[in-house]
Amino acid sequence: MYEDRIRNVSLRSRILSAQEAQAYIQDGMTVAVSGFTRSGDAKAVPIALAKRLENTWEPLKINLYSGASLAETDRVLSLQNVVERRLPFQSDEALRKRINNGEVQYIDQHLSHTPEWVRSGFLGDMDIAIIEAVAITEEGGIVPTTSVGNSPIFVEKAKQVIIELNLSIPLAFEGLHDIYLAGDRPRRQPIPIVDPRDRIGTTFIPCDPDKIVGIVITHDLDSPSSLTKPDAETQMMANYILEFLTNEVRHGRLPQNLAPIQSGIGSVANAVLSGLRASPFQNLEIYTEVMQDAVFELFDAGKVDFASTCSFTLSDAMLHHVLDHLDDYKQKVVIRPQEISNHPEVIRRLGVIAINAALEVDIYGNVNSTHVRGTNMMNGIGGSGDFARNAGLSIFVTKSMAKGGSISSVVPFVSHVDHTEHDVHVLVTEQGIADLRGLSPRERARVIIENLAHPMYKEVLWDYFKRAEEKGGHTPHLLSEAFAMHELFEATGDMRNLVYS
Ligand code: COA
Repeated sequence: MYEDRIRNVSLRSRILSAQEAQAYIQDGMTVAVSGFTRSGDAKAVPIALAKRLENTWEPLKINLYSGASLAETDRVLSLQNVVERRLPFQSDEALRKRINNGEVQYIDQHLSHTPEWVRSGFLGDMDIAIIEAVAITEEGGIVPTTSVGNSPIFVEKAKQVIIELNLSIPLAFEGLHDIYLAGDRPRRQPIPIVDPRDRIGTTFIPCDPDKIVGIVITHDLDSPSSLTKPDAETQMMANYILEFLTNEVRHGRLPQNLAPIQSGIGSVANAVLSGLRASPFQNLEIYTEVMQDAVFELFDAGKVDFASTCSFTLSDAMLHHVLDHLDDYKQKVVIRPQEISNHPEVIRRLGVIAINAALEVDIYGNVNSTHVRGTNMMNGIGGSGDFARNAGLSIFVTKSMAKGGSISSVVPFVSHVDHTEHDVHVLVTEQGIADLRGLSPRERARVIIENLAHPMYKEVLWDYFKRAEEKGGHTPHLLSEAFAMHELFEATGDMRNLVYS
């Protein structure tokens, strides 16, 4: 049985049920799982662990490490309050609640940093790695599914490995991946990628077969991503970006087919990328960490030639479309470890155009992607910092207002800084675009307020800036008033009607 999927004969006797496999997980362990933005995640064993705890009083806490956000695993383990420490990214409501209550110690980390920390031993021992796979090679090599994430470094460092062999993912996935481990520092070799198409590693994750303690057969597909459809405002943002990029090409600052594009998670980034379908650009290349629906739409529209990614994070309809047309996409896509998809060296070399979403931006160009009112974690920084810091062009998009207009996304001072003014080249809202390159802080403030803020909030922002400017300084601020908009929201549930004293 499963001869084509478990090619190492000695491993065929290690098939376990999910219930049997979860018994390897004990209190205090560090469990490292495959999964990146809800794709390619280990599904059966963590769910079986949650079931074991449902009906007992057994005290069990684990450190849970992954590539990025997980779907069911984050939800069910948070509901059971099993997670002591979590990194590097999440997007689950139940887990978010526990994090913001202080019950889960969450390390919100640049995604390219996690494998370095695992390799360096900063995160302690990896007890068990649970990895979703389409196949195991003769040598024990693990062929991943819809993401690679941190699986290669987890497999290398884990004491024991459990494989979830997912029979619903076609064997044709084999060959899509390019597994390369960056190696030890110092004197690490350069990463030899000069084109998104470059393949530099193996199609499987090397693994000592003796470490594989169990193989669980599974059938569930990734849980679908639920993106809000593009709307008139996101289309306007896409149009501003298209106009801007066209101008860059006209002035010879970008080639005709642009530079490789990265697009972040979330509805807004997806919708903006989707807007490129109506662009004149052809032969586009993608160098990203997450491929959402929009990239496949761009393939189908003949706009994109090639995409390098770390995961597919797709709606149900798009996942089935991709599985049905895998042969069409296979030569045009490579799935890499996040260490490589997000590596500063490669991003800088390729001059990637990074398009990420912000929660709020301030009048000087700092960006908050993670913390609602500086306090409550939304998801995490993910790869946005890896890309923004190193991109050829770093663009952030946000609607100018949130929650029906009661929140302005343009504020005097962001309540949490993820991306500093130094890493932000261009900002876009549905109101307009602000090209911040080469501008001083005072110049940036003028263009950000004028071009990006919603008319309802312009007056109050101008008032703040002008009075701060009178006081002086390179980056003028009135510290006692810098968070007055946030304070008013906390007091009344609405930032509108702010009158500075
Ligand atoms: N204050 C409070 N809440 C805000 C807000 C603000 N300034 N701006 C937006 N929000 C809320 C929205 O109302 C929405 O709430 P809801 O879920 O209750 O409807 C939620 O935040 C998401 O905002 P939305 O406008 O729908 O944007 P999105 O789905 O594109 O997500 C981020 C935006 C910033 C949360 C998301 O892109 C993210 O997590 N980014 C960080 C990680 C990242 O960039 N990775 C990039 C590489 S993949």
